[in-house]
Amino acid sequence: MQPGSPVLYSIGTPSDSDEMVCLLGDAFALYDPPAVAAGLTPPEFENFVRLLCPHTEHQGLTIVARSAETGEMMGALLTEDAASELPPGLESLSAKFAPIFDVLGQLDTEYRSGRTASPGESLHLFLLGVARKFAGQGIAQQLAAECIENGIRKGYRMAVTEATNKTSQHVFRKLGFSERVKRSYLDHRFQGQAFFTSIGDQGGPILMDRFLARLS
Ligand SMILES: CC(C)(COP(=O)(O)OP(=O)(O)OC[C@H]1O[C@@H](n2cnc3c(N)ncnc32)[C@H](O)[C@@H]1OP(=O)(O)O)[C@@H](O)C(=O)NCCC(=O)NCCS
Repeated sequence: MQPGSPVLYSIGTPSDSDEMVCLLGDAFALYDPPAVAAGLTPPEFENFVRLLCPHTEHQGLTIVARSAETGEMMGALLTEDAASELPPGLESLSAKFAPIFDVLGQLDTEYRSGRTASPGESLHLFLLGVARKFAGQGIAQQLAAECIENGIRKGYRMAVTEATNKTSQHVFRKLGFSERVKRSYLDHRFQGQAFFTSIGDQGGPILMDRFLARLS
């Protein structure tokens, strides 16, 4: 398949789940800096995505990208209503997730500062991944743009995401997201231990948000 060949973007359905689990499991475990630093394997990350799929698929907020020529899944942006509860079963995941959930949880706690979002108000752009062989073709940016358009059509007024690395931060900034809360990978400690010093060059995770109006 040639770079630049046509891509179809659609709202994810239950029939997309198996491929999405594999794609996001690989993309994150192999290329997302905190997942790599924590030593998560693709099957371990897949278990997390598998918990999220049934939890989110009925909301119609996830976007998938497929090759128009072959139908192969190229990328996905697993999205939920920000007012959703966490899915059951997180305690069964690998303990390697704990420092990641800790640092991202700090961002969310500070951002929400006691407020709770109402259903239908805010999109949570949760897991954005593009298969490595399709990287650098603008697919992540288009997934996020489609997600925003879909959210606007459904009446959402806000979008929020935790961007864990410089590439995703660039993508979301380009789409009009602003930085709200940051942490430093070098400074973070979980149970007295530093897990992320090897990825200090990535700065740290940033919670970003934007009001939803159509992209120009
Ligand atoms: C992050 C990810 C989704 C990007 O997918 P992609 O389809 O390659 O992204 P795009 O082609 O749409 O855009 C990438 C942009 O980042 C830029 N970029 C690449 N590396 C960068 C870096 N180290 N620092 C800053 N920007 C960078 C590219 O130049 C491009 O921007 P441009 O269009 O202005 O030139 C993909 O790399 C991935 O799946 N990574 C693993 C999972 C992950 O990290 N997900 C995000 C967690 S929040």
